[in-house]
Amino acid sequence: MKARKLILGTLVLGACHSQSAPSPAPTGATDVGTPTALASDGRYVPAADRRPGVFPAAWRHKAGRAPVFGAHAMVASDAPLGSAAGVEILKRGGNAVDAAVAVGFAIAVAYPEAGNIGGGGYMVIHMADGRAAALDYREIAPLAATRDMYLDASGKLTDKSIVGPLSSGVPGAVAGLTEALAKYGTMSLAEVMAPAIRYAEDGIVVDSALSHSFKSNQKLIAEFGGGSVFLPNGAPPAPGTTLKQPVLARTLRAIAAKGRSAFYEGPIAESWTSELRHAGGIITTADLQRYQPVWREPVRSTYRGYSLFTMPPSSSGGVTITETLNILEGYDSLPAFGSAGWAHLLGSAYQRAFVDRNEKLADPAFVKVPIAQLTDKTYAARLRATIGNMHATPTSTVSTAMRDGMETTHYSVVDEKGNAVATTTTLNNLYGSGVYIASAGFFLNDEMDDFAAQPGTPNMFGLVQGEANAVQPGKRMLSAMSPTIVLDPQGQLLLVTGAAGGPTIITTTMEIILNVIEQHMTLADAMRAPRLHHQALPDQLDYEPNGLTVAVQDSLKAMGHKLGTRGLATANSIMRVRGGLDGVGEPRSGGAAVGY
Ligand code: DON
Repeated sequence: MKARKLILGTLVLGACHSQSAPSPAPTGATDVGTPTALASDGRYVPAADRRPGVFPAAWRHKAGRAPVFGAHAMVASDAPLGSAAGVEILKRGGNAVDAAVAVGFAIAVAYPEAGNIGGGGYMVIHMADGRAAALDYREIAPLAATRDMYLDASGKLTDKSIVGPLSSGVPGAVAGLTEALAKYGTMSLAEVMAPAIRYAEDGIVVDSALSHSFKSNQKLIAEFGGGSVFLPNGAPPAPGTTLKQPVLARTLRAIAAKGRSAFYEGPIAESWTSELRHAGGIITTADLQRYQPVWREPVRSTYRGYSLFTMPPSSSGGVTITETLNILEGYDSLPAFGSAGWAHLLGSAYQRAFVDRNEKLADPAFVKVPIAQLTDKTYAARLRATIGNMHATPTSTVSTAMRDGMETTHYSVVDEKGNAVATTTTLNNLYGSGVYIASAGFFLNDEMDDFAAQPGTPNMFGLVQGEANAVQPGKRMLSAMSPTIVLDPQGQLLLVTGAAGGPTIITTTMEIILNVIEQHMTLADAMRAPRLHHQALPDQLDYEPNGLTVAVQDSLKAMGHKLGTRGLATANSIMRVRGGLDGVGEPRSGGAAVGY
């Protein structure tokens, strides 16, 4: 009885929290209030339509902090040196794509746990002249891959899709970054790669985060040859040490001079594939030669008059975000942030979208993917009708109803003209497969685990995926990466965002968008706000420790939600504000925004 009262109380409060119309917006939805977000005395003044974030008392990231403000341009990434490389290129006259490519190569040196040339990723571009594009440079399964390659003789799933030489897909990063530059950049490859080459040749100063990362992944790094570079004298370099990567510098120089062919053909390709084969891997030069990134039409959708440009399959990110937002858009207003009503609606919408994601999404070159249906607002209305006000729905029933009818890194860049780039790239796990290619100086991904290595059996993120995403040679494994760009109702750039963290990428990216649009938070609060996650299976609503009050937890349990706690994704975002741009690096993990 007590629990029931609590639920009513929370939901009523939530329901009363109707959204007042935003104040008149001169040129964009955030152009309200003082002419610039940075007052003459240096104080940060949020726009008049922003509301202070209200977080549980025990939550570790307090609301009300100022973002990094830049009057001209901004880069937000997981590595201070990555953001600095982007800003260096912007200041030399490069556009957002030039800068994004510079960040991509720079983090391959300065953020080796996830930045990479041995992995792949996705880039969403929105140019100030209205052009929009999505580049898929996801890895593909090697030609020698087979459906059951990760099962042992008794049919049991092994860990070979997660660690070691068999776990790597054919890398797409070099092909993707060079392709983006050729189509949308203005500078030469040598110019944009200069900061990365300098970092590798002259060395970077190891900060405490990087030193800690090497230390906590020491075993994996040492297992397949990375120790010679990252564990000199058998131990991680202490903060303050200069770390040089001369072999990587040589590889980067060759790419800067010759373009993608230096990595996919010729002596470097031959030597690194032969090194991998000796270790037991199956990627060949034939795999490298046929690798192509793919330009795709971004998923374009709207949410309450805002426009989204986000990533289509082979990532599930854009479709799942769109499907969830379409479900939520049908409510006149959403309950207050952090209330049981908010958590229930978000969790239930995620759950439904993830059921579709896990069953239906895969590489569109291999599987017919119903993008139009899943992103259709009428379809979302049907799903919305299955969400009860006061009770959770077991995933097994959600699933039936619908049949009827770790490590990654994200960076955002905006230049002075308003061109915007959202990029997410990954090796999958921290340091990928662990396999370090000593002859070329990079870690290889373990992206093969993003396939359903055994359909129906959870992968390392607990995702239970179906036949559509089974291993097939030449196929892209389904991703959750969700680089996203949002325009406001006036058509002005509003937000550039995306995240790292397996399936929680999707929910985190979505919540940052919702915190800005629905809850009217500043970007700093939107990023610091506690996050939620539901991926259909396991059938539970996850929250960050202390991210929900005990009363809200009780209400959700009374509705039938099974609750779990987990660390959720990490994001790096940029938002256009009056007189410039706010940049916020992930507060949970030391991301860095640099603007000017
Ligand atoms: O593409 C994907 O969805 C995963 N490989 C992403 C992995 C990830 O985000 C790990 N962590 N931070």
